[in-house]
Amino acid sequence: MSAEPEHVALLEADTPDPPAEPQAAVRAEQLTKRYGTLAAVDHLDLVIPRGSIFGLIGPNGAGKSTTFAITASLLRPTSGRITVMGADPTVKPRTVRRRMGYMPDNLGVYDNLRVDEYLEFFAASYGIHRSEWSALVDGLLELVDLTVKRTAMVNSLSRGMKQRLSLARALVHDPELLVLDEPASGLDPRARVELRELLRSLNAMGKTIVISSHILAELEEMCTDVAIMEAGKLLAAGPPREILQQLGGARTVRVRFADGAAESFTVSDDEQQAALLRRLVVDDGRQVVEFVEESGGLEQLFMTLTEGIVQ
Ligand SMILES: Nc1ncnc2c1ncn2[C@@H]1O[C@H](COP(=O)(O)OP(=O)(O)OP(=O)(O)O)[C@@H](O)[C@H]1O
Ligand SMILES: [Mg+2]
Repeated sequence: MSAEPEHVALLEADTPDPPAEPQAAVRAEQLTKRYGTLAAVDHLDLVIPRGSIFGLIGPNGAGKSTTFAITASLLRPTSGRITVMGADPTVKPRTVRRRMGYMPDNLGVYDNLRVDEYLEFFAASYGIHRSEWSALVDGLLELVDLTVKRTAMVNSLSRGMKQRLSLARALVHDPELLVLDEPASGLDPRARVELRELLRSLNAMGKTIVISSHILAELEEMCTDVAIMEAGKLLAAGPPREILQQLGGARTVRVRFADGAAESFTVSDDEQQAALLRRLVVDDGRQVVEFVEESGGLEQLFMTLTEGIVQ
């Protein structure tokens, strides 16, 4: 048996915080997490740019939650290196926890608390003064649209409401980096749209957002960068359009005309797509009423790249 503890102890020397790294919010180098012979994360090299909305995509068991838990300083990697906002979570877990908000894929067990007490509990553990709790809880509940549940018991909330409470919890200490493990799961369509808007405005405030999800069309629309992983390994990373272009090849444009006719065209890049529109409207003089790039590109790419390997 190894004497190395699985979890990161919150003991750290009282040395000054390392300077935050200017470019990368998260940088993983050859990051590996083994469970016996299984490599849940397998020599992962990943850079999450600061200021991005970064989507981590992969089939069940790909290693997404494991990567997030290591990032959040909750799990110790077997080998490799990771820095989060410039700090190593295995050495400086407190620094990392202060700089990031983590929403796990389940809420945990704090069922005997009211919603406001739950958030106050986390405010207290982040060292926020009692005099600020009330306004903080008001603001957070409004942000995630749970004001009416302020005094409800946590265990009386619906699944989607628990998800929103979990997001509020991740925001308690106003972190620079948000790592959200499937935040949209269990949310109804309206709540999903609202979540997307909320994440966009948090990003506009300067926060880096890292999110895993299985709703690929949503990620494609929202994320500035994505990474696709399978069986612990990175398959592709970059802005969705770029990796689609590099790996996905052609895209389809659906065009509808004023006379009711509809046609699909295949183009390989923005230039060809612009030329197509010009040809239809200017050269051919056709009445175009709809010109839509077919979505699902990322889904297609996901299906092409991943093989459904189960370890
Ligand atoms: N505590 C553990 N002990 C043993 N194996 C584990 C443990 N935690 C995770 N694993 C294994 O590591 C692999 C990666 O799991 P992980 O939860 O990171 O996947 P994921 O990408 O988040 O999947 P999902 O999309 O289903 O949430 C899986 O094969 C899983 O069974
Ligand atoms: Mg997971």
